[in-house]
Amino acid sequence: MSEPVTIQFAKLSAKADAAPKGVLVVLTDETLAFGKLAQAALKPSAPAIARALDADRFKGRLGGAVDVLAPEKLAVSRVIVAGVGKAEDLKESDYLRLGGIIAARLPAGTREASVVVDLPGRTVPGSAAAEMALGAKLRSYSFDRYKTRRKEGEAEPAPLSLTFLVGDEAMARRAWTAREAVADGVVLARDLVNEPSNVLDPPEFARRAEGLRAVGVEVEVLGDEDLAKLGMRALLGVGQGSIKESRVVVMRWNGASAKSQPVAFIGKGVTFDTGGISIKPAAGMEDMKGDMGGAACVTGLLYALAARKAKVNAVGIIGCVENMPDGAAQRPGDIVASMSGQTIEIINTDAEGRLVLADVLWYAKERFKPRFMVDLATLTGAILVALGQEHAGLFANDDKLAGEIAAAGLATGEKVWRMPLGPEYDKLIDSRFADMKNTGGRNGGSITAAQFLQRFVDKTPWAHLDVAGTAMSSPTSDINRSWGSGWGVRLLDKLVADYYEG
Ligand code: BES
Ligand code: MN
Ligand code: ZN
Repeated sequence: MSEPVTIQFAKLSAKADAAPKGVLVVLTDETLAFGKLAQAALKPSAPAIARALDADRFKGRLGGAVDVLAPEKLAVSRVIVAGVGKAEDLKESDYLRLGGIIAARLPAGTREASVVVDLPGRTVPGSAAAEMALGAKLRSYSFDRYKTRRKEGEAEPAPLSLTFLVGDEAMARRAWTAREAVADGVVLARDLVNEPSNVLDPPEFARRAEGLRAVGVEVEVLGDEDLAKLGMRALLGVGQGSIKESRVVVMRWNGASAKSQPVAFIGKGVTFDTGGISIKPAAGMEDMKGDMGGAACVTGLLYALAARKAKVNAVGIIGCVENMPDGAAQRPGDIVASMSGQTIEIINTDAEGRLVLADVLWYAKERFKPRFMVDLATLTGAILVALGQEHAGLFANDDKLAGEIAAAGLATGEKVWRMPLGPEYDKLIDSRFADMKNTGGRNGGSITAAQFLQRFVDKTPWAHLDVAGTAMSSPTSDINRSWGSGWGVRLLDKLVADYYEG
């Protein structure tokens, strides 16, 4: 990864005697006024800065910023004035974006920067500063582990120390402890998605998940033999064409009393999806290294919950397999018996994610009797056709859970859109030879996939997030430049924090 960002918080006082060095960032709203503390920090240069804002026709909108280089009578190398728009409208997710926008404005190679978290006529809560820090940290992420040289003229990466100057630094620090855990969870998920499949195969994924023991997560790894004993033939069938063994990893964070029923998160972890014998076309196939985005999210989430000591019992289960064509690979027409006992006719070996999830969902439900199950999977290309990359598809058998996920999505900016389920879709996956088939044809492809999964959850409240459009190949945003987005970690952390803790 790129050079680390160290986040700090310090008390901001109007005396501003400890003059910040490096880059100084101040905020303003559409009035173009500054808060008292920002005013004090800018004082000797205030007229020059006002002229710079005017010269740039700056309107203080969220997303806009003006750079003033080497302002006279200030020790800093530059002042960045960042707009926040209408201060009274600012939501948590705006502070997150703002943090990302500020981080992006810092010139490459910046070692020291301070942000004065202050707005005219209002006190900005410490939690908003922590949210900005989260945005800055996520924006600064880049996956360059495999780059051995820089482009000509590119600044040498340097560790950045980013200090937020706030009124209530104790509150900001407390809020950051939890946010930092989430930031690290997102970074872990992004790293896993970005990692190539020759490095991240199922056994390696399991080893990385074992790393969560460091934050107090119990980790169990099930290999081919264990899975065969459990009867996970649907999952094993997907992996049987690969020389890599399959793995199911069970991660448990126990942050509540032993009596408290756990919540469960299940992830599709296809470390590479060639399509198998129903092989995919060559163009773009390299993207299928990210077909484990659901499992990456679950791993990042369990990390975050443990690292922030969430008061919840949570189980994360990931099904890790590689889908390859080979002499040993499963064929179209094969019939497999899932762990549930239900039989599945394989029509298309490229509809493999649902086969993996069928067994993992069933296992999760039987073993843990969870309060709910949420699964995440890069399941269908059809969800990209339906929703593009702005929303993940949400399918659920429970309106309360669906509503909570939708609300957490809006709050975090990781948005979901509810899609239908219904018995009418069942006939599309009826099989002539087995209890069901693994594809339902082109129409409603994401729905028939979800309808298939529903057969493995019984009455457990359950939601399925089809993240094929959001987990990878992500459009850039103010808080993300990475191909693997780590989508879902913040959303599900928020779901737990708002509805299932304590
Ligand atoms: N992993 C793919 C879905 C996918 C597509 C993820 C694009 C990310 C980007 C999944 O295993 C798959 O191949 N689905 C098939 C299902 C079909 C054969 C019924 C699809 O969507 O075409
Ligand atoms: Mn596939
Ligand atoms: Zn797949």
